[in-house]
Amino acid sequence: MEIAKSLVYFISLAVVLLLITSMAEANVVKAHHHEFIIQATKVKRLCETHNSITVNGMFPGPTLVVNNGDTLVVKVVNRARYNVTIHWHGVRQMRTGWADGPEFVTQCPIRPGSSYTYRFTIQGQEGTLWWHAHSSWLRATVYGSLLVLPPAGSSYPFPNPHRNVPLLLGEWWDANPVDVLRKSIRTGGAPSNSDAYTINGQPGDLYKCSSRDTTIVPINVGETILLRVINSALNQPLFFTVANHKLTVVGADASYLKPFTTNVIVLGPGQTTDVLIKGDQPPNRYYMAARAYQSAQNAPFGNTTTTAVLQYKTAPCCGGGSAKNGIKPVMPLLPSYNDTNTVTRFSQSFRSLRRAEVPTVIDENLFVTIGLGLDNCPKNFRSRRCQGPNGTRFTASMNNVSFALPSNYSLLQAHHHGIPGVFTTDFPAKPPVKFDYTGNNISRSLYQPDRGTKLYKLKYGSRVQIVLQDTGIVTPENHPIHLHGYDFYIVAEGFGNFNPKKDTAKFNLEDPPLRNTVGVPVNGWAVIRFVADNPGVWIMHCHLDVHISWGLAMAFVVENGKGVLQTMEQPPPDLPVC
Ligand code: C2O
Repeated sequence: MEIAKSLVYFISLAVVLLLITSMAEANVVKAHHHEFIIQATKVKRLCETHNSITVNGMFPGPTLVVNNGDTLVVKVVNRARYNVTIHWHGVRQMRTGWADGPEFVTQCPIRPGSSYTYRFTIQGQEGTLWWHAHSSWLRATVYGSLLVLPPAGSSYPFPNPHRNVPLLLGEWWDANPVDVLRKSIRTGGAPSNSDAYTINGQPGDLYKCSSRDTTIVPINVGETILLRVINSALNQPLFFTVANHKLTVVGADASYLKPFTTNVIVLGPGQTTDVLIKGDQPPNRYYMAARAYQSAQNAPFGNTTTTAVLQYKTAPCCGGGSAKNGIKPVMPLLPSYNDTNTVTRFSQSFRSLRRAEVPTVIDENLFVTIGLGLDNCPKNFRSRRCQGPNGTRFTASMNNVSFALPSNYSLLQAHHHGIPGVFTTDFPAKPPVKFDYTGNNISRSLYQPDRGTKLYKLKYGSRVQIVLQDTGIVTPENHPIHLHGYDFYIVAEGFGNFNPKKDTAKFNLEDPPLRNTVGVPVNGWAVIRFVADNPGVWIMHCHLDVHISWGLAMAFVVENGKGVLQTMEQPPPDLPVC
């Protein structure tokens, strides 16, 4: 009897165990495995062939499509002659800072001939993200889109589109981008502008030797397509529009928005915008076009226009889908290059889809000035190394600190292993000198920042507010400020100097947009909030690459909290060493 009882007990235990294992299997996260071979590839644009650095020989690189909740495992093999790292722009990397990618921040570079495998899970983000090299100027050609669909079995908060179309806006140099950067570092002057803007790697019909390969986006009458527009340009905020079609904005930076319609959208480098577009116009060919939004006065910029073609499948011109002998597409109107009003109207239309969980009590309140600067020519430098304005060298800073990366350890390794002498934690919470940041008469004595590797320490879970304040030093400019490891709420923005007394009242604490990159208005400010719930070292920088190299950056070190789920994972065994 006793034996029979314990037998029954044993069998039922086994059944329960079996059930649990099979349930766990059903719940297993979907993992996507990819291999990225970084290699030089011949790419012909603007009538010239270059040996461009690419992923798997593709330009732009492969599109990754995942569902919210999935895991990505990407082995990056470096067969190029440059150091490289890959950054998964906008992915929060909860506890997996080792996979974030910025060179000398979360990892040492992957040396030529070596490899590193990035492992991370997408959690609670849906929409459009992207990936790019985060080393030198390699991201000029090393980039691609990362589309995050709703989890299997759930749907978009808007009618299902017939198709998803990623549109990567880029910049092309008729030169080696790494050499362009090196030259500017040597001379202290501004790097040369790109020679073309591109859509999915193609300059389009308005450039020489380019019309044959113009990007074509097919559409059917009555169809709705989801355009996932990404500004992957290095140094230029861009306007984007489609001739005769309304754009319904439904998301940005992989967070949903209350839908609104517009004729034109604006994106700073790093930003993404999801727009629905309907095939509700007479069947024809229509240009999709992008060109510069240039907020810095008197600074040279590329004033050309890149185009793709929205082509109705039944357009009279295009039987058989051939674009070659097609009729000329309809050209849209684009805002003027300096149309800041359009930019403001656009950014102020952003509301998150649902009520947002914005922190209302603030533990850490930072006021951070952002802008350019000029270094006086060092005594031992020849004049050809000081080709900035009036024999200076260009620089840039946050709160007067021009950010210098280490070279012997990454910041995250130094933090994790407690290696001294790599960084300090004295990044100032406010600028050392208070001045009329956006006024007309900024003293020349304020143009020269200090250099340093200064981080700002945050306790796990602290509620952070940052006022980002543009300055007129050298020139005011709209800076796309990007924070790694976090999405933040943009609770307000405005022009002039931020005034806590009158501006705090205008904060949107109900439904502000959640983003990873904020375009701080030219000669103005933006206020962002987030909860420091992701331990690690996270860089915050201007996403105009020319400004990062000048030091327009800082980094946060977020301490571990309590328990495993509030603690960074251990570094992977193949993490590169410097
Ligand atoms: Cu998209 Cu630090 O970059």
